[in-house]
Amino acid sequence: MLEKLNEIEQEALASLAVIEDEAALEAWRVANLGRSSPAMNVFSQMGTLSKEERPLVGQRANQVKVALEKAFAEKLEAVKQAALAKSLATEQLDVTLPGRPAPRGRLHPATQNLRRVLDILAEMGFQVYTARDVESDEYNFQLLNIPPHHPAREMQDTFYVESAQKEGSYSVVMRTHTSPGQIRAMREFSATNPQNPPPIRIALPGMCYRFEQITARSEVQFNQVEGLVVGESITFGDLKGTLSDFARRMFGQHARTRFRSDHFPFTEPSAEMDMECFVCGGKGCPVCKKSGWLEILGCGMVHPTVLQNGGYDPRRYSGFAFGMGPERQIMLRHKINDIRYFWGNDIRFLEQF
Ligand code: DAH
Repeated sequence: MLEKLNEIEQEALASLAVIEDEAALEAWRVANLGRSSPAMNVFSQMGTLSKEERPLVGQRANQVKVALEKAFAEKLEAVKQAALAKSLATEQLDVTLPGRPAPRGRLHPATQNLRRVLDILAEMGFQVYTARDVESDEYNFQLLNIPPHHPAREMQDTFYVESAQKEGSYSVVMRTHTSPGQIRAMREFSATNPQNPPPIRIALPGMCYRFEQITARSEVQFNQVEGLVVGESITFGDLKGTLSDFARRMFGQHARTRFRSDHFPFTEPSAEMDMECFVCGGKGCPVCKKSGWLEILGCGMVHPTVLQNGGYDPRRYSGFAFGMGPERQIMLRHKINDIRYFWGNDIRFLEQF
């Protein structure tokens, strides 16, 4: 019997040694210290032993029981420590680490610059007027003195709206410039409307569309900001003064400008306003193509026919108009050499603004 107790003890300790988790340990406890475990069975067999054997076996059985209980308690502690150490290692949380920044949305660079242009024009007394993106051929071309066979009306340059084509006419277009808004504004702020009397001083922003091959230099859509001033005795001097002032507000107090004669069907005389290259200060560089000047906008005195089409008598009223491309300004300022970045939705480009 004593021999058997030794065996029971050794086997139990050996199987305890390889245990690593609490579930297995609990199973071990039931098997080795539970009511029907081999050690406990020895106690129930005491009655079958002789008087001499009984105290010896009883003592030894108690020793085994105490030894197993002690070994169990030690193992339980060790298993718990190991579990704690493991969770400390895997669930480590360093509260001193900097947080991850949440990505913040922002305005598209084209929108940012468009708003800046409009803010400046608003400070100068211009009212923002939005016209439509889809225009009639009449407003986009005819009323602006662009005759039927003008090259700008070619199918290659203009998006015609399909539903209108089906009816056999080509009279509805995606506006190719913001200039048709001039006619809409003049007709709304008409000389005969007492609620909206002249003078007119408006800024017309918006997307324009052209049927272009998309390349680094041309896109099928782009923003323009159009300006229109109509009143009595408005002169070319007003045009030069206003636009030079705009350039200084937009590009800095030292921005120098020059006006070159040009041609647009809806203005007479027409001009192009250049400003001194802000990259090289006028010395000549790749951005200004060594000329020292950058083209900023087209402008001119509103053509008498256009005034008339807008409902203004050209003998009494005169005016000037201008049109510029806000994306082009961003490209010049940031030396961006590919216009496709604007509508390419590449976050690496947009994030820089
Ligand atoms: N509409 C012209 C364009 O798309 C720009 C322009 C030039 C607008 C001269 C004007 C102007 O109002 O006077 O290229």
